[in-house]
Amino acid sequence: MRLILCENYEELSEQAAKLVASQIILKPDSVLGLATGQTPVGIYQNLVKMNKAGEIDFSNIVTFNLDEYYPIQNNNDQSYHYFMQENLFKKVNINPKNTHIPDGEAADPEEECIKYEEEIKKYGGIDLQILGIGQNGHIGFNEPDVSLYTETHLTDLTRSTIEANARFFNDENEVPKQALTMGIATILKSKKIILLASGANKSRVVSELLNGDINTSIPATMLKVHPDVVLICDKDAYSGIRLGIDIGGTSVKFAVLEDNKLIYKSSIPTNKESMDIFVKEIVVECYKIKNNYSYKAIGVGTPGRISDGLVTAANLPFKNTHLAKELKKYIDLPVNVDNDANCAALGEFEFGVGKDMDNIIMVTLGTGVGGGIIIDGRICHGRYSMGEIGHIIVQSKGGLPCPCGQTGCWEQYASVTALIREGEKACLENKDSLLYDLYLKNNNKLDGKLIFDALEQNCETAQKVFDEYIEWLVIGLKNLINIFGPDAIILAGGITQRGSILIDAVRNALDTPVKIEISKLQNDAGALGAAML
Ligand code: GLP
Repeated sequence: MRLILCENYEELSEQAAKLVASQIILKPDSVLGLATGQTPVGIYQNLVKMNKAGEIDFSNIVTFNLDEYYPIQNNNDQSYHYFMQENLFKKVNINPKNTHIPDGEAADPEEECIKYEEEIKKYGGIDLQILGIGQNGHIGFNEPDVSLYTETHLTDLTRSTIEANARFFNDENEVPKQALTMGIATILKSKKIILLASGANKSRVVSELLNGDINTSIPATMLKVHPDVVLICDKDAYSGIRLGIDIGGTSVKFAVLEDNKLIYKSSIPTNKESMDIFVKEIVVECYKIKNNYSYKAIGVGTPGRISDGLVTAANLPFKNTHLAKELKKYIDLPVNVDNDANCAALGEFEFGVGKDMDNIIMVTLGTGVGGGIIIDGRICHGRYSMGEIGHIIVQSKGGLPCPCGQTGCWEQYASVTALIREGEKACLENKDSLLYDLYLKNNNKLDGKLIFDALEQNCETAQKVFDEYIEWLVIGLKNLINIFGPDAIILAGGITQRGSILIDAVRNALDTPVKIEISKLQNDAGALGAAML
């Protein structure tokens, strides 16, 4: 894949138009594959200008558009038929009979797809295909992970595409739920391909395209098998500079990444009193950072539940707070928000132990048990943004009560809080133990560090507590392994950093081909992952 990096959208449009014009000049009866969306509008404007100036002639050009919503009336101003008329066809000397767009009014969509594919073949295939790229990496309407090696077909649009394309409609509900689209197989048969990417919201997929492998969850990466693809992108789409924000119970961490490398870190205290003031404090830090690093997108990890963008977090001033919208009141950049544990998992997946894996589960052992699940390279959200692995139930009858309302939740047994609780219970029952001495010296309380101190000095009481803790930890890990079959389970949190005591015990107890590893990024994982949202 060849890359043409442009300063801005205007330059991108000129460069791409020049390539299309060369094709038209060299082969005046070329078959062009055309795309819609915001990005190609500038190319069409340039082509119209060149046509008016007599530099290029469309009279023998044949066109096939990539896709069309289904169902949609051709005269609907959001149809791609309408788009092509307005942006190109009625402004150049093209013969309308030579233009083809899948018919959103077709009574039988399947038959329409077969006819469309045959028509392309009749003209000898596409000489030059222009492509845009969706934020989720789709090309045409070939959505992630749906039968990728297909010809023209009817497809369901994903939620993210419906949301992304809602900007052109009055209301999200008006966006058709299906589309007719050339398949990846159709696209790959084109002789040449120009792929366009403009704007910071495309930088994630561009980075995947340039740095990652072929990956069905980012359909555009399939273009890597084509011998003649030119990616034309502007600096916003290319620039890897982004800001990650990890909101925690005591501090908010900020991380700036350039081309996927950490270049700056800072933090501010968490404000638990007022949502409004807290958001402003975060915004002030964002602006301070912006003075030195011109990031183009912001990702935020926050504790709590997120449903339809609304965040509710027990220890923070967020109650049904649309955090992205609150931040966007002050910062005009794309802002993505996700759960903090999901961000940590994403950070570890992109930059840490999970770097060369597809499926990981990150388990954070602390006050509670948190974690994130990445399957096929993507955060597992489910419909209700759950993934609260600390609340899988490991003992139903007689289980310990959990503040979440359930009983027997895993975090009541496998968190550091649980380890300390059991340690204190055991040392009070074994007053001749080293653990009890440490407890007394520490003003009648234990912490994780003291339990590990006692373990290292062969305290039997500490060992018993630790062994039981490992049993509980392993029960939950086994459940996760059985459900998800990940490449690796990655453990994070202070207690994983005490030599290899914990990881050795877990590995021994689990006996699984799944890799059990300690997080490489630990406290930085959240902010780094947030930057990758
Ligand atoms: C739609 C089209 C795609 C296009 C994508 C991106 O989903 N079906 O062909 O690439 O939008 O559009 P934009 O260029 O507006 O970001």
